[in-house]
Amino acid sequence: MARIGILGRRGLSRLAGLRSVPGIEIGAFYDPETAAQDEARRQGLETFARSEAEAIESSDGVVVGTPMHLHADQVIRVLQAGRHVDSEVTAAVSLEECLRIAEAARSAPTGYFFAENYVYFPENLIVEALVRQGRFGSLTYGGADYVHDVRGLAVRADGTRTWRADWQYAALGNTYITHELGPLMTWFRAADPDIRIESVACQGNGAHAGAGLTDHDSTTTLIRLTGGPLLVIRLDLSSPRPHRATFEVQGRTGCYDSREPGIWMGEDIYAYHADFHRGWHPVRDHLDAVPSGLRAEIAEAEGAGHHGSDWFTGRRFGQMVLGERPAEIGLFEAMEWTVAGLLTARSLAAGGAPVSMEDWVYDLPRGGR
Ligand SMILES: NC(=O)c1ccc[n+]([C@@H]2O[C@H](COP(=O)([O-])OP(=O)(O)OC[C@H]3O[C@@H](n4cnc5c(N)ncnc54)[C@H](O)[C@@H]3O)[C@@H](O)[C@H]2O)c1
Repeated sequence: MARIGILGRRGLSRLAGLRSVPGIEIGAFYDPETAAQDEARRQGLETFARSEAEAIESSDGVVVGTPMHLHADQVIRVLQAGRHVDSEVTAAVSLEECLRIAEAARSAPTGYFFAENYVYFPENLIVEALVRQGRFGSLTYGGADYVHDVRGLAVRADGTRTWRADWQYAALGNTYITHELGPLMTWFRAADPDIRIESVACQGNGAHAGAGLTDHDSTTTLIRLTGGPLLVIRLDLSSPRPHRATFEVQGRTGCYDSREPGIWMGEDIYAYHADFHRGWHPVRDHLDAVPSGLRAEIAEAEGAGHHGSDWFTGRRFGQMVLGERPAEIGLFEAMEWTVAGLLTARSLAAGGAPVSMEDWVYDLPRGGR
């Protein structure tokens, strides 16, 4: 039996997944806002801590679902209290914070789980399974877009600023890269466990949103992997348009493109001037590539937040705390993906020049995927 405490409203997204794990009990919730406490009550929580320390003290593991700039210090306090921790994305807002988290997590006897939920989109899990089976051949290119106009969450109607204005819209570069980089690196590493990020380069299109939001509306990041593959990632949190999150991966014998019907395996080799839609299949047609246990979990997660992925992060954290699984997405992945995002600011400051990846990341213990 293990008890999980929750810091911050976003941590409530883990409830369904945590409740799916026999032996997990939901412990105390701490969020200073009354609206968040009311939401927790609606979701069946009964125990409310009066402070962060009280929530940590009464738990075996703690979900940190607070604003980004609080993650590092809170995660470190949880680890130093000898509890397991689940961190929301991104792991931290500076390289210095990343180094401190890595040091605390390495010396802690407890586990660090990084809740990068986009890895657990059903489509992304199916693509990962196909990559593991070698169905795309060697991977050469990956792309992802995260376009989400959340200006309204950064500046309130009365003009006051929230944490997002200061941390997501003011720190230059791709300040929210893990949703895209997480699935892409998971696929490339499924094909080649030793692959690394070599360099990060970033360009932006200027800040047009006004209201004191000083980061570029749109950034494009080029990530060079060892051996040559290229990742291209767009982040746009400011342009007035509907939300879009897309993924693609290209291999030598096939590809996945979420903007198309899904998977193309080259069965109609060379579609030039032919029917451009020939050979595409919905990615769900390949569900049987996923191991049966995981397939059953995908079915159970159906309907949960973010295409079921929130259920997975709660479940995997609960299983890690009970010792049933290693952290599937752990310290190494959290640091690799977060650090790459932070390096985009350094590249922008250098006029878009590629900057080398921080090597220390590659000494960290890998997650258990
Ligand atoms: N993985 C995803 O799909 C996803 C989706 C949304 C948000 N997020 C992440 O979740 C985090 C929170 O984002 P949000 O949209 O919920 O923000 P929000 O501003 O809506 O809510 C933040 C909550 O944290 C609470 N809080 C502030 N300080 C606290 C403290 N010291 N201890 C406990 N609670 C505290 C606030 O009272 C508030 O209720 C961010 O890191 C964001 O990047 C991830």
